[in-house]
Amino acid sequence: MKKELNTSNLEFSTRCVHSGVYKDELYNSVVTPIYPSSTFYFEGPGQTSGYDYTRTRNPTRVALEENLTSLEGGAGCTATSTGMSAISSALHLLPENAHIIAGNEIYGGTFRLFNDIMPNRAMSVSQVDMRNLDAVRSAIRPETKAIWIETPSNPLLNLTDIKAVCGLAREHDLLTIADNTFLTPYLQRPLELGVDLVVHSTTKYLNGHSDVVGGAVIAATPELAEQVAAMCNALGTTCSPYDAWLVLRGVKTLSLRMRAHEENGMALAQFLDQREEVERVYYPGLQKHPDHALACRQQSGFGGMLSFDMKGGEDRAQAFIAQLHLYSFAESLGGVESLIEHPASMSHAAMTPAGLVAAGISPGTIRVSAGIEASSDLITDMEQAFATIS
Ligand SMILES: Cc1ncc(COP(=O)(O)O)c(C=O)c1O
Repeated sequence: MKKELNTSNLEFSTRCVHSGVYKDELYNSVVTPIYPSSTFYFEGPGQTSGYDYTRTRNPTRVALEENLTSLEGGAGCTATSTGMSAISSALHLLPENAHIIAGNEIYGGTFRLFNDIMPNRAMSVSQVDMRNLDAVRSAIRPETKAIWIETPSNPLLNLTDIKAVCGLAREHDLLTIADNTFLTPYLQRPLELGVDLVVHSTTKYLNGHSDVVGGAVIAATPELAEQVAAMCNALGTTCSPYDAWLVLRGVKTLSLRMRAHEENGMALAQFLDQREEVERVYYPGLQKHPDHALACRQQSGFGGMLSFDMKGGEDRAQAFIAQLHLYSFAESLGGVESLIEHPASMSHAAMTPAGLVAAGISPGTIRVSAGIEASSDLITDMEQAFATIS
């Protein structure tokens, strides 16, 4: 009972609003309904409506999955309960004893999964500087099965050359998986650059309102999409219809929000770059960022995430954060409200001290998720915080 629209030839922002979204003909609802039903009745043996049990497939979730498939340019998607369940479902596609190559600076939860949990399945990870293609090449072993890409990296915004790494992976028949949470398909489409699987924490920009936790895996081919769907069904990692509905609602304004996040990200990076209290700013939109040229090539913008190192280390960093009024001192990112956090003690606390050093995350590092407020207000708040601690 759904009216479908063919959105394949429409622009990105139009697809945000319309892809997968359907109007229910029962009551002419303009918005995709939430189908909370855990189960769907059979009309006879083997005769279903296309749905039998919500863990496996649910109409509200399918609407979101079709939307994200369209936005990433994939062949299929499974929406999951969290970003971490998307990541662990993708990793479960790899055989036991598989070896993976990943960056040495990645989201702390992914670091924990790689280092504390995957060894239980006899899987191993080599973490290297992904900016150095020779380092990636040298890490390849006979048992290597996949390369994990997180670009820009969390929290230092280092970039991986996706095309180059995918070329290397193809030479060695390796699966490539990219975490596209920081930029979203509005600013970067890894599947178009050769990646096999894209994962997301939809908790972040895709939902965009800090009121849901969710994830997604989008596959480049129908075969991989089928394997992901079967794995998520088997592991039970698919998301609830309610959460799918919230993310679908959020995605409709993705283009508008990402433009505002980026404007504020750039304004804050330029402001911080001029402050004498700041040692270094990490934002690929700044011309002096070492990966600026690559960012211009493989992204269509620089996003709303930035980090900076405060002179004086953790004490000064914490003192500065404590004086802010407009920024919530909180983990997570990608919501309409600006957030600020201290990676070494918060989002990346799961990393070992040696891991933090290898990643270049210092005690004075502060990460900012620029919201969509007026940039003048965000800057004024930082100005008064600097003035108070000086
Ligand atoms: C880049 C990145 N990937 C994955 C995750 C995990 O997502 P979730 O918290 O939704 O499980 C996060 C969370 O912060 C993240 O920043």
